[in-house]
Amino acid sequence: MPEAISLTQFLIEEQRARQHLPADLRLLIEVVARACKRISIAVGKGALGGVLGDAGTGNVQGEAQKKLDVLSNEILLQANAWGGHLAACASEEMEDPQPIPDVYPKGNYLLLFDPLDGSSNIDVNISVGTIFSVLHCPDDVTHPAAEHFLQPGTAQVAAGYAVYGPSTVLVLTLGHGTHVFTLDRELGSFILTTRNVRIPADTKEFAINMSNRRHWDAPVQRYIDELLAGRDGPRGKDYNMRWVASMVADVHRILTRGGVFLYPWDRKEPDKPGKLRLMYEANPMAFIVEEAGGAATTGRERILDLVPTALHQRVPVFLGSKNEVDVATRYHLDAD
Ligand code: AHG
Repeated sequence: MPEAISLTQFLIEEQRARQHLPADLRLLIEVVARACKRISIAVGKGALGGVLGDAGTGNVQGEAQKKLDVLSNEILLQANAWGGHLAACASEEMEDPQPIPDVYPKGNYLLLFDPLDGSSNIDVNISVGTIFSVLHCPDDVTHPAAEHFLQPGTAQVAAGYAVYGPSTVLVLTLGHGTHVFTLDRELGSFILTTRNVRIPADTKEFAINMSNRRHWDAPVQRYIDELLAGRDGPRGKDYNMRWVASMVADVHRILTRGGVFLYPWDRKEPDKPGKLRLMYEANPMAFIVEEAGGAATTGRERILDLVPTALHQRVPVFLGSKNEVDVATRYHLDAD
């Protein structure tokens, strides 16, 4: 049997192999992974842990928070406050960035996270997850504000997600491929299970919330109509559809066996450019997917090239198998 490589060992080896992976970043990833283990335990207890249901509060987006949204946010904030690797955190659940308390040493990184993605699935025992992104704090900044987080996705130094499903999986990129770790619950360690995962360029599977069909604009209608036409249509093959409604689970399926994920702008909420958040969902997932050989666009532009204008900005998202993302993007550009 091959030797099991833990996340710690993997990160130390990466640090030795690549001079640019600083010890601070390695330790920061370990802190985030530890927090994900704690969230995984809370999610796994379900009704027995008293963590299901609404918290009775709303987040900055005006969405009702689940108890586990609040708990996961607290776990990530607490775990990261004292570690000494961060200058500040920003969370999908909080309006403003959270500074590191003065009693703790500060580091040079900014951490952004969606503490519990897919929270509508918590109470029905379907996979949920945590998504995170790491940026450098600008050199001369001692008290980072929202504006210091507004860096394009290309500036990310690390990104990852955890899926709390039948097993707990951590997916990580440091800009040199995307790697998958599975939590060994007996050891309490994340073990490397796929090094350098690759998303096939072609696929026969798509993920979109079809109930929004009547609200889509023309390029999305055209693209999905062609997939639904199957082997008799212009694409010449039959497509299957999946929609978990937890981005982490849908993206993880795409990483595992290919596919394309779409959350486009729609007319239901015309003032919002999309549902998903650039800084907490689109950017980290785009980095992970590109590092696995896939593509990620807004339908028009590469997500990682966007210059953010607000911490809680939303964007349309098309990501996954490269050839499908290219077709959907071409249809938008043709229509412009
Ligand atoms: P949240 O973080 O508020 O739970 O949002 C979940 C996101 C994403 O994970 C998922 O792909 C999408 O919302 C599902 O949206 P629909 O409910 O519109 O299908």
